Amino acid sequence: MMNKAFLILSIIALLHGGHTAKILGVFEFNGKSHFQMYEKMMKGLSERGHEVHVLNHFPQKKPLPNYFDIDVSGSVPNVLDNFTIDLVRTWDTKTMLSFIWDFTRTQCEVVLKHPNAQKLLKSTEKYDLIIMESFGSECTIALAHKFKVPLVAMVSSVALPWTHHRIGNPDHPAYIPSYFISYGSQMSFIERFWNTLYYITINPANYYFNEIPTNELSKRIYGHDIPPIGEIAKNTSLILVNSHFSISGPRPVVPGFVEVGGLHIEEPKALPKDIQKFMDESEHGVVYFSLGSLIQVQTLAPEKLKALMDAFAALPERVLMKYTGDTLPGKPSNVMTGKWLPQLDILSHPKTRLFISHGGLMGTLEAVYAGVPIVGIPLFADQELNIKRCVLQGFAVRILYDDMTKESFLSAIRTLLDVRAKYQEIYSANAKKTSFQFRDRPHTALETAVYWIEYVIRHRGAPHLRSAGADLPTYQYLLLDVISVLVLGVVSFLYLTYIVIRSVLRLLLGGKKRNKSKRQ
Ligand SMILES: *[C@@H]1O[C@H](CO)[C@@H](O)[C@H](O)[C@H]1NC(C)=O
Ligand SMILES: *[C@@H]1O[C@H](CO)[C@@H](O)[C@H](O)[C@H]1NC(C)=O
Repeated sequence: MMNKAFLILSIIALLHGGHTAKILGVFEFNGKSHFQMYEKMMKGLSERGHEVHVLNHFPQKKPLPNYFDIDVSGSVPNVLDNFTIDLVRTWDTKTMLSFIWDFTRTQCEVVLKHPNAQKLLKSTEKYDLIIMESFGSECTIALAHKFKVPLVAMVSSVALPWTHHRIGNPDHPAYIPSYFISYGSQMSFIERFWNTLYYITINPANYYFNEIPTNELSKRIYGHDIPPIGEIAKNTSLILVNSHFSISGPRPVVPGFVEVGGLHIEEPKALPKDIQKFMDESEHGVVYFSLGSLIQVQTLAPEKLKALMDAFAALPERVLMKYTGDTLPGKPSNVMTGKWLPQLDILSHPKTRLFISHGGLMGTLEAVYAGVPIVGIPLFADQELNIKRCVLQGFAVRILYDDMTKESFLSAIRTLLDVRAKYQEIYSANAKKTSFQFRDRPHTALETAVYWIEYVIRHRGAPHLRSAGADLPTYQYLLLDVISVLVLGVVSFLYLTYIVIRSVLRLLLGGKKRNKSKRQ
């Protein structure tokens, strides 16, 4: 059976005219939602006939042809369904940055001590390409240098502020809101001011708080002659980002920066029988509730959970709810819970009318794909930004955790669902419109990503994709030298003009004075 699949794959690969490649994927961060995207990518490449070796925390349950796990699970604690609401509510921007910079680095050092990681570090395997996550600490980027292979970076969110520089991608604070600031594309003066301040400070901060400590770590792990990670990062051939202009807003990009928003999304599959029945038999449709793969809903403050239950009980719709607790206190009869639910398949069911979500990017993109309106309760990281985009596109309502009451929930849900209200049609139409814009592409996100990865392999790192902007020092990139000369020129010209006019006036007036004194 497996040999047959292998044979078919090999034939497909041959038909591609292709040389199949040996590709190393390195995903040392143990975020499950991040890995959803990378796993789909690596599987897609293995289905194309490439041999992929994937360092990750989520090994395949069944072996796949051409796909080989470098299993580092167990090296660090699993964080799935592990966070309390009180914990994530303390996560402000400062905490987030320290998580992204410090936590990912300290954790990486532990992950790389795993025997399987150690084997990879010492391996003499010949790879054709390396694909790795770019998130916080680039503690594994030295592998691209060690194996002397072209480097592809993947970002599971919209671009982070430090995503752009390495390939010279333009970033502009006048209309592109920072990942860490949840503004829309049209910013007021105050918003542009703060966005610009972020733009100016965050990359130097990333250098001092992230790159420098990671360079030290890098030397400890890979030896003293390893180049600084900033230098290795400059060799990045391609960056695949989980954004799409239909939802993230249009932005200028260099050819090596490719938007593959929704790459993790697969064709909807058949639902489990009980869920299918529950949904099919709902007279008024279904509301789907999930706060994602990290947060335990049972840790919501009791009054918040009660508000939610009271609101659900008042709905004619049925509610499907992701809930990992043992019992759900006050569970109304129209609510069905599951510890894990097939989210995209539920969102794609025709009876699904609404998604109540924390605004994690993966789920948000799935709702966009399915054309389902959202009630967003953003809690941390990019969730505020994601929900903001959906609100601006006119298919979402945001509720702050502090404002969660039965009334606020019902009001938000009714706004989106009540057919008697005019709003309902607008929200639903906007969700469908955005869905159409999101899906209408020349190729699927996966096909696009595969194309560009194979392009990089075909062109041996494709150095011709690199923008010259990537090599300019900041003062040249921002034209500070040219602007200085221009300003100096204008100032000198004005000053000279002033001197000349003053001398002429003096001459004239002085002459008059002299004439006057002569006459006297
Ligand atoms: C999360 O996981 C860690 C490590 O396994 C454990 O110590 C902690 O108690 C867990 N937290 C929760 C809220 O379950
Ligand atoms: C960048 O890539 C080139 C070409 O593959 C290689 O010679 C060089 O060593 C790489 N630089 C670093 C810092 O890894």
